[in-house]
Amino acid sequence: MSNNGQKIAFISGANRGLGLETARELGLAGVKVVMGSRNPTAGDHAASELRNQGIDAEAIKFDLVNKGDHGLLYEYLKTRYGRLDILVNNAAFTLEGNASDLGPHNTVLTVGIEGLRETYDVNFFNVYDLTLTLLPLLRLSQAGRIVNVSSILGSLTLHADPQSPLVSEYKSFAYGSSKTALNAFTIYLAHALRDTPIKVNSAHPGWVKTDLGGSNATLELSEGGKTSAALALLDENGPTGKFMHFGETIPW
Ligand SMILES: NC(=O)c1ccc[n+]([C@@H]2O[C@H](COP(=O)([O-])OP(=O)(O)OC[C@H]3O[C@@H](n4cnc5c(N)ncnc54)[C@H](OP(=O)(O)O)[C@@H]3O)[C@@H](O)[C@H]2O)c1
Repeated sequence: MSNNGQKIAFISGANRGLGLETARELGLAGVKVVMGSRNPTAGDHAASELRNQGIDAEAIKFDLVNKGDHGLLYEYLKTRYGRLDILVNNAAFTLEGNASDLGPHNTVLTVGIEGLRETYDVNFFNVYDLTLTLLPLLRLSQAGRIVNVSSILGSLTLHADPQSPLVSEYKSFAYGSSKTALNAFTIYLAHALRDTPIKVNSAHPGWVKTDLGGSNATLELSEGGKTSAALALLDENGPTGKFMHFGETIPW
């Protein structure tokens, strides 16, 4: 076990999109990044790309819906580093393809229980499970940080506002409500950990050009990792139990 006081981060879904970009941001800030990827070849490729930029990065095979991977990740982090400083719950799933496609969505009337289960399994249940599995390692950090990568599409306040331009058209029930549930996890976990140094926040990265965001998204990929990285690097005076976007709190 040797890391000379360097912070250790685990990021799920770090082989592409915002996960890779967040790993890059954290790596450039001097953090050691352990990059979870369902596909080991894709993970190795992404980690090697970051290493070529001088970042301390390594990939680990990690599928959120594979419980065995949760245990293996715990053992890997415990054996190599003896703790975890930053957990970025980034990986997510949507039935819709990408958010630039304004074709028909799986609405509350059409999605069905299997679509809900499939979405919640990745975006909520296994995020809960992984976080609880890794919590003993986060408790060993002097300043544990948990970032739940959510979405403005999980905001009940905005969905309940018929005038809201952001969410009035995009009513994918499975994806949006899975992020609402993730936000509830943020609030409850931050409360449960309020007497510890651990901070737990939800991030809305913005609408970013990734496979999930699609080509109509308003932000370039290079901007997309900034909110998650900032929450991962909060100092002791930073917030906990908040829903944040580029340093501003946004409505639950
Ligand atoms: N892009 C946006 O505009 C936007 C806006 C708001 C919120 N977000 C959130 O930001 C996060 C990242 O989104 P993105 O745009 O980067 O998405 P993306 O380009 O579709 O990438 C998703 C990542 O999650 C991984 N993943 C999916 N299911 C997984 C599983 N079961 N286990 C492990 N990894 C899994 C994917 O792995 P594979 O490569 O193996 O498929 C991929 O690495 C998500 O939480 C998303 O909801 C994105």
